Amino acid sequence: MAYNLLKGKRGIITGALDENSIAWKVAQKCHEEGATFTLTNAPIAMRLGEINKLAEETGAKIIPADATSIEDITKLYTESMDVLGGKIDFVLHSIGMSVNVRRGNHYTLQDYNFTKTGFDVSALSFHRVMSVLYKKDAMNEWGSVVALSYMAAQRVFPDYNDMADNKAYLESVARSFGYFFGRDKKVRVNTISQSPTPTTAGSGVKGFDGFIAYAEKMSPLGNATALECADYTISLFSDLTKKVTLQNLFHDGGFSNMGVSTAIMEDFMKDYKPEEEIAIEEPKVKDKK
Ligand SMILES: NC(=O)c1ccc[n+]([C@@H]2O[C@H](COP(=O)([O-])OP(=O)(O)OC[C@H]3O[C@@H](n4cnc5c(N)ncnc54)[C@H](O)[C@@H]3O)[C@@H](O)[C@H]2O)c1
Repeated sequence: MAYNLLKGKRGIITGALDENSIAWKVAQKCHEEGATFTLTNAPIAMRLGEINKLAEETGAKIIPADATSIEDITKLYTESMDVLGGKIDFVLHSIGMSVNVRRGNHYTLQDYNFTKTGFDVSALSFHRVMSVLYKKDAMNEWGSVVALSYMAAQRVFPDYNDMADNKAYLESVARSFGYFFGRDKKVRVNTISQSPTPTTAGSGVKGFDGFIAYAEKMSPLGNATALECADYTISLFSDLTKKVTLQNLFHDGGFSNMGVSTAIMEDFMKDYKPEEEIAIEEPKVKDKK
C-alpha cells in the first residue's frame, strides 16, 4: 500500500546492485511513495547491467560514482540536482564491501591494504558523501540521510571480520556529522541496523546460512526482510520522523535485545550433556567455550 509519504521529494539512492539489494527495494518503495531520485553505483557494478531495469521501472537516471572518489561524488550531486530540478531531500548510503572477507582472511590475520580499501569503501565513504553534501549545501532543510549498518558494530560476530569495525565507524560518523548537519542545515542523519539479509554483500560473510537461521530463531518477530527495511527507510525519509537524528535504529525483529529464545535453547539442549555425564565418558576433558 502506498501513502504518498515522499510526494515531491528528491533523492539519491546508492548501492542497488540486483533485485536482492536492500537499495533496490528502497528505490521501488520511494517510487511508489511519489519521490523522484537518481540511482548510483560504482562504475564496475554497472557492467552487470541489472540497474538499468530498476532505472526503467522507477524513471530514475543512473549516475555512476565510486564512493571512494570525491570527484565522482561531487559530480553525482551536481548532476542529480540538475536532473531532479533542485536540492536533495533524502540520501541512502547502502554501500559495503570487505576485501578481507572476500579473500577469506581471518580477522586476526588481515591484509591491512585490504582493510584500508574496505574501510574506504564501506565506512569513510559515508563521511565523504556527507562532507560533499554539506559543503555544496545540497540538502533541503528537514532532509534525511540514512546509512545501513549491522549489530556487529556493538557485539561480537566472529565471521563478520573487519566489517564490524567499519560499521562501528559508520555509526559514529552518523552521530558526529549528524550534529553539524542538524545544527547548521536542519538535516537529520541516522543508521539502520538491519537483520542479516540474503544479498550479494550479506552472503559473502562466512557461514551466512547459519547466521541468518540463528537470528531468525532468536528474534521474536523473525528477521526483517529487505522489503521491510525499505518500509522503515521510507519512514525516515518522510516528514513523520523530523526530529529523529543521530540514532542507530535496530530493525531486526527484536534480536538486539534478546539473551536467548526458547527455540535456540531447545536446539542447544538436544546436544547438551550435563557435566557429570561428560566426566564419566571423558574424565579429563572440560567443556570448552
Ligand atoms: N545483507 C545483510 O545481511 C546486511 C545486514 C545489515 C546491513 N547491511 C548493509 O546494507 C548495505 C547494502 O548491502 P546489501 O546487503 O544490500 O548488499 P549489496 O551487495 O546488494 O549492496 C552493496 C552495494 O555496495 C556497492 N559498492 C561496493 N563498492 C562500491 C564503491 N566503491 N562505490 C560505490 N558503491 C559500491 C555494490 O556495488 C553494491 O551495490 C551495506 O552497507 C551492508 O553492509 C547488509
